[in-house]
Amino acid sequence: MTQTHLSRCLMMTLASAGLLLSGASMAQADTDAARLLFDQNECGKCHNPDKNKKGPSLKKIAKAYKGKATAEADIIKHMTKGGKVKLDDGSEEEHKIVETKDVKAQANLARWILSH
Ligand code: HEC
Repeated sequence: MTQTHLSRCLMMTLASAGLLLSGASMAQADTDAARLLFDQNECGKCHNPDKNKKGPSLKKIAKAYKGKATAEADIIKHMTKGGKVKLDDGSEEEHKIVETKDVKAQANLARWILSH
């Protein structure tokens, strides 16, 4: 093996190791970013991590989706498509649509909700 060949080979190995690492960290929610988006969109008006408010607690939502393969996609759909929801007082309104078109941010928020 020539010198350049060897170093190229090493670079490739390092690069793929890096990809693996970033892949692993992607599964974990970026809590700060998720919380910021949650606050900016005033989701907290109706959702609390532990307590049911106008809407179900994040724990309750996470529990309902536990073990569901499509959980993340379902939640993203819910917060991007809207639709009528029933509040705790029995009234109905259109669910809030998250104000970001950034799909990565949406997925991160969904993962954070599911991590409760
Ligand atoms: C006006 C009150 C209100 C606001 C604001 C609100 N939600 Fe909700 N949300 C609800 C209610 C009520 C439900 C329960 C719907 C049902 O079970 O029919 C719900 C359900 C959900 C669910 C569960 C969906 C499911 O399929 O079970 C998620 C996830 C969710 N909201 C995320 C969010 C996010 C993210 C935001 C901010 C962008 C937000 N909500 C803002 C009232 C609200």
